[in-house]
Amino acid sequence: MTPLLAAAVTAAARLQGRFTSRLHDERTAAWLGMALGAAFLSAFATGLVSHYMQHPPGWMQWPSRPVNLYRVTQGVHVIGGLATVPLLLAKLWTVYPRLWQWPPVRSAAHALRRLLMLALVGGALFQFVTGVLNIGYWYAFPFPFTTAHYWTAYIVTGALLIHAVQEWPKARRAVMTRPQDAVGRRAFLLTVAGAGGVIAATTAGEAFSPLARLAVLAPRRPGTGPQGLPVNKSAAAAGVAGTARDAGWRLTVTGRVRRDLTLSLEDLRGLPQRTARLPVACVEGWSAEATWRGVALRDLLAMAGAPGDAHVRVESLQRGGDYRTSRVSPEHWRDPLTLLALGLDGEPLHIDHGYPCRLIAPNRPGVMQTKWLHRVVVL
Ligand code: HEM
Repeated sequence: MTPLLAAAVTAAARLQGRFTSRLHDERTAAWLGMALGAAFLSAFATGLVSHYMQHPPGWMQWPSRPVNLYRVTQGVHVIGGLATVPLLLAKLWTVYPRLWQWPPVRSAAHALRRLLMLALVGGALFQFVTGVLNIGYWYAFPFPFTTAHYWTAYIVTGALLIHAVQEWPKARRAVMTRPQDAVGRRAFLLTVAGAGGVIAATTAGEAFSPLARLAVLAPRRPGTGPQGLPVNKSAAAAGVAGTARDAGWRLTVTGRVRRDLTLSLEDLRGLPQRTARLPVACVEGWSAEATWRGVALRDLLAMAGAPGDAHVRVESLQRGGDYRTSRVSPEHWRDPLTLLALGLDGEPLHIDHGYPCRLIAPNRPGVMQTKWLHRVVVL
């Protein structure tokens, strides 16, 4: 044995001796692991809902009801994700002495297992750190957040499932056998659950207005912003403050229609107006409800003679950006609650909410409720 290796072995043995807490045991690791597994599967499922609502494959049509479905799934994703942070930290603390086992690699199978753990731990930390920075509006990463977060979710979930299958017999045995020292463990697990509960209670108000006053950790709260409704992108940031106020603004309806329409704001106000109580449900987890008033998209498309099975693209005055346009499926535009909104809570739309005209539809991510519309194209 080289002197360097001998020193490493001695250091590892000394460290092993220091992990004296009974909470570094299998039973604590098993309980935390099961809770973490359920939390991750929930995050994966709700994350996939968000992804496929924004990028549906050709065969997939999301229903427009229930109205609040996306609001709930994305709220669970982000608020549940934040509440899972203490659980992940507790699990890592419970099992980290194993990182110091000697020798670090015993066989090819053991090396594979350790690689799997690297993917699981590294991937989980990546998901949490990027997720938290994203909802904190700190877009400082040199890669696109959604793409990285999306693919890492598959790596983490795959590694988690393999890990769960491998550890299941041990975890089951540890949970089933009667513990000698339940009190310390129970206090530890309750503290972790309490920390998660405090995080959930102080952020849930960003989506659930009765808790709004408690939401001290939430980046956005209902009741803040122009007309009492939060905005992520203002007209100035989108570069449309001038064009949206232009007196020459017109909305055109074109594409696969019997006749093109060109309508001024006065023309739109002269059409039958409908009201809908709908939330803006942001991909970043916050949501807020308002009463919108405007022309039902289906009424406008009927005037233009659009076929009932056509998809529709709505286009913003924005010059660029990922969310300049969005697609509206027949399922959504045929819903009477889908409006080209001109007003919000009894007033004309504020420019930051999409004046002169924006889309608002049920069960749809906020980034797809396109603002500052100027064209509706029937595809
Ligand atoms: C603190 C924890 C987390 C936070 C704050 C968080 C936050 C977010 C946010 C804000 C989005 C929406 C991105 C967008 O469309 O702009 C998102 C999407 C997503 N998240 Fe998370 N997340 C967390 C943990 C996780 C975990 C643990 C997983 C999976 C194991 C996961 C899987 C996904 C997936 C698959 C998407 C869809 C990405 C896409 O649209 O392509 N997330 N998450």
